[in-house]
Amino acid sequence: MSVEKKMKIAVTGGAGFIGSHVVDAYVEAGHDVTVIDNLSTGLKKNVNSKATFVKMDIGSSKLRELFEKEQFDIVNHHAAQANVRVSVEEPDFDATVNILGSINVFESAHKTGVKKLIMASTGGAIYGEQKYFPADERHPKRPSCPYGVAKLAAEKYLSYYRVTHGMEYVVLRYTNVYGPRQNPKGEAGVVAIFAEALRKGKQPVINGDGFQTRDYVYVGDVARANVMALESDLTGSFNCCTGVETSVNTIFTVLNVRTGSKAEEEHGPAMVGEQQRSVCSYKKLNKATGWEPEVVLDDGLTQTLASYAKK
Ligand SMILES: NC(=O)c1ccc[n+]([C@@H]2O[C@H](COP(=O)([O-])OP(=O)(O)OC[C@H]3O[C@@H](n4cnc5c(N)ncnc54)[C@H](O)[C@@H]3O)[C@@H](O)[C@H]2O)c1
Repeated sequence: MSVEKKMKIAVTGGAGFIGSHVVDAYVEAGHDVTVIDNLSTGLKKNVNSKATFVKMDIGSSKLRELFEKEQFDIVNHHAAQANVRVSVEEPDFDATVNILGSINVFESAHKTGVKKLIMASTGGAIYGEQKYFPADERHPKRPSCPYGVAKLAAEKYLSYYRVTHGMEYVVLRYTNVYGPRQNPKGEAGVVAIFAEALRKGKQPVINGDGFQTRDYVYVGDVARANVMALESDLTGSFNCCTGVETSVNTIFTVLNVRTGSKAEEEHGPAMVGEQQRSVCSYKKLNKATGWEPEVVLDDGLTQTLASYAKK
């Protein structure tokens, strides 16, 4: 892939699971990429060798100096406290990173003339328990956890920066992203958690009855959406998802077979406040850019397992 115009892009959270794939796609497209990450959950080894790495917290007062020095064209904001459970236990910490940290990124971008800000948001937690299926972008926003509240707040700040200061933005609301480099120690990634356990002959525990559904989107498809988000006329909030609803029990069964594990389904208590069904529509993004998911779950799980086997 090559680009008409080489851009200078900062990717916050570019050492993390999704951010590192976005960095790879931007480097591959010929852009000049700087990763800003405090390595709290990300890993230095995830960072593309052709990108510049800066270890920094997005809440740091030094962020503005860095933006002034580098004069980025585009900022892609993936750094976040991305764990729903942590947000429930420590809502103040969640808000410090996901609201105040984001404002520091947006303000630094606005003050240094950044043309567009692209941000990772959530198509699960932002809508809450859905009124209809699949949820489009107009679905009521009723987040039931501090993480969803913070993402919604950050989206509204971006709207303020556009209305008042003319800084364009694209928000991509991901559903459940899975794929290589997802941290099995995290709480969000049921694919990574189950795959890691089953490969090692351990027994994964399914929260509740396992009939809760999610919309699983492959990380390569998400990275491609971030490349499309660079297009100058794309602006606003877009779901980035598959529209396909899959239960946690199905994920368990497929991974159980694929890993050759003979584990039985084991269920633990349901997580308090866990969403029952979550599935979104990508029609708006498709209409604006032609984006659609290319990797079906079966193939994505194969690629994910293959990447773990290589480790
Ligand atoms: N994984 C999903 O299914 C999913 C779904 C919807 C939205 N998202 C969003 O996508 C983004 C990336 O999520 P992920 O799953 O790759 O998580 P991740 O934890 O792998 O990535 C987050 C990255 O941000 C860095 N970071 C965290 N706090 C920071 C701070 N204060 N300053 C600088 N860097 C910091 C971490 O070190 C890590 O590299 C997040 O914004 C998340 O909310 C993820």
